[in-house]
Amino acid sequence: MSETQLLEALRNLPIAAVRFYAETGSTNQEALDWAAQGAPDSALVVADHQTAGRGRFGRRWFTPAGAALAFSMVLRPLQISTDKVPLYSPLGALSVAQALENAYHLRPQIKWPNDVLLKNRKVCGVLAEALWQDNVLQAIVLGIGINVAPSSVPPDEQVLFPATCVEAALGRTINRWGLLAEVLKALLEWRDQIASPAFLEAWQKRLAFVDQLVRLENPGGETFEGRLIGIHANGHLRLQLDDGSERAFSIGDLKLRPLS
Ligand code: BTN
Repeated sequence: MSETQLLEALRNLPIAAVRFYAETGSTNQEALDWAAQGAPDSALVVADHQTAGRGRFGRRWFTPAGAALAFSMVLRPLQISTDKVPLYSPLGALSVAQALENAYHLRPQIKWPNDVLLKNRKVCGVLAEALWQDNVLQAIVLGIGINVAPSSVPPDEQVLFPATCVEAALGRTINRWGLLAEVLKALLEWRDQIASPAFLEAWQKRLAFVDQLVRLENPGGETFEGRLIGIHANGHLRLQLDDGSERAFSIGDLKLRPLS
């Protein structure tokens, strides 16, 4: 699919500038470099093929040519309190979930904080990275990877959480750029409502594993098990522990797994 078709699909969206790469290392890196050179708010980087796609926890993200969506948007919020920064990756997940609902009537869920699932398999990952200068936030780069065709789905033995793709869920092929346009439309609408009650309600409504037993693991290997209650107004995850007490976990380096 060509760059012309991409630009045509994005024609009606308020996007300041677009850079398309047939192949690049990572769209997040391209967007961070561009942001450092002055990229405007809503500047978008799209790649057909990433050779060094970045995932959370320093993992790699697989983006083979012609089979997935890999894109990053430069966001320059006017007034950003640092407590809202962690909500940008859920913003990406919520936008993808809503696009899958609106465009294809699918029923995605969000594995806290920001993985999008279809039938309990991961279809999309989000990596938000911040650009700072002298302790002042300059921009947030919101990177989103969506598995579209079956060849974009890594085998179960290569991933920690089983993956799937949009076309497997639908049983037919789709136009990738059409899906991208739906996601960006939702993203540009939700970004102005980030941290609002409506934003939190929309995120919470799609939360996976509510009322189920889950395990959280921090980078030190410490684990916490409990029943997932929901999210707090600040985006923290609420768990009810075995002794009946409630504990909240902030968005960060925590991995979440269902126990059943
Ligand atoms: C995760 O680990 O779940 C997050 C994956 C994020 C992947 C996307 S693909 C587009 C953007 N560019 C990158 O290098 N990573 C993000």
